[in-house]
Amino acid sequence: MTVCEYRPGLEGVPATQSSISFVDGQQGILEYRGIRIEELAQKSTFLETAYLLIWGGLPTKQELEAFEHEIRYHRRLKYRVRDMMKCFPESGHPMDALQACAAALGLFYSKRALDNPTYIQDAVVRLLAKIPTMVAAFQLMRKGNDPVQPRDDLDYSANFLYMLNEQEPDPLAARIFDICLTLHAEHTINASTFSAMVTASTLTDPYAVIASAVGTLAGPLHGGANEEVITMLQEIGTVENVRPYVEACIQQKSKIMGFGHRVYKVKDPRATILQRLAEQLFDKFGQDEYYEIALEMEQAVEEKLGHKGIYPNVDFYSGLVYRKLGIPVDLFTPVFAIARVAGWLAHWKEQLGENRIFRPTQVYTGVRNQVYTPLAERPQIWDKQAVTIQSIVN
Ligand code: SDX
Repeated sequence: MTVCEYRPGLEGVPATQSSISFVDGQQGILEYRGIRIEELAQKSTFLETAYLLIWGGLPTKQELEAFEHEIRYHRRLKYRVRDMMKCFPESGHPMDALQACAAALGLFYSKRALDNPTYIQDAVVRLLAKIPTMVAAFQLMRKGNDPVQPRDDLDYSANFLYMLNEQEPDPLAARIFDICLTLHAEHTINASTFSAMVTASTLTDPYAVIASAVGTLAGPLHGGANEEVITMLQEIGTVENVRPYVEACIQQKSKIMGFGHRVYKVKDPRATILQRLAEQLFDKFGQDEYYEIALEMEQAVEEKLGHKGIYPNVDFYSGLVYRKLGIPVDLFTPVFAIARVAGWLAHWKEQLGENRIFRPTQVYTGVRNQVYTPLAERPQIWDKQAVTIQSIVN
């Protein structure tokens, strides 16, 4: 077996063969099952897109209605999951709460039957249906309130905003939120999807797979960036402060949140759509104080870092949309997770279809053939530089 060269972060190393989504980072193209993201955002819904990603094709009217009915029926949480949430500290991050609840689902559906299509279908429906309810329930409970029950008369996105804000959303707000979910649903082998695939490859249950992925998405270099962008815009405070801020980041070689991408070397096509959605919300509900700062930021970063392929990614404008929808900043990444469950499940199913457990190799850089030094003979102070490790010379 040939060992390929070590690539930090596996950059450019194919980890699988997949037919779920396609990205061209130079042209700024994203397709789900071959359909351009711009078309899905305009013409589809999140649940229809989830069906496309997971089952491999657009559903018939009957299939879509049956899928939507199944999801409505499974939105409610077991009371024990809600009781578990009551023990969570209010100050805890909602992504940690979500990861705990996703894993807890495995306790209720512990009988693994990965070769049974009904088991697969049930897991897909339960996770897509219950994750939004978990996110909304934690939000209300950490404020000391009882969570509200899902409403079967509302569609997927309207119901989430209703459970979160305890009032029916404006139809435009619900539609724009649904488009955001479509935009965030899938993105080839990103870190959290890779995490899901590695976990899936051991043939554990799908709830553990999603819990792994949620934990991975939470990091600020990945899904956690949307929350960091708002913090950054607040910290900058004025348009005049933008360029000094960008210069300081460059000097300190620190990453500017919401910019850059391992694959896109142009503006993320999802950022372009999210920017337009934000402007639609501003037209109807009023301007956002940070939008001008964001526009100045995009221009300044393009001037200074565009030559390195650093442009806005999906996380740069999404937070401005979510703020207008009344979503708290620390729920931005859980909202990303609600959408990405569709992509994670699609890759879980695909992995099971032709599974081989992930077990990469390494380039070993440590020492060999060391002698065990009895405690009494070891130096009093452990100083790596001073201590010479006795080695057996072959
Ligand atoms: C998501 O993979 C996906 O598809 C992810 C995602 C999805 O849908 O699943 O698209 C969602 O995670 C989007 C990314 C959200 N993260 C952020 O916005 C955090 C800020 N971005 C960076 O941390 C960074 O751009 C990454 C992590 C996104 C990508 O990093 P890479 O590919 O590992 O790039 P790198 O760190 O090797 O940087 C290459 C060069 C470096 O400069 P040099 O040392 O070569 O001179 O580009 C610079 C970096 O300093 N650089 C940045 C930068 N990102 C890269 N400089 C300033 N600000 C940045 N944001």
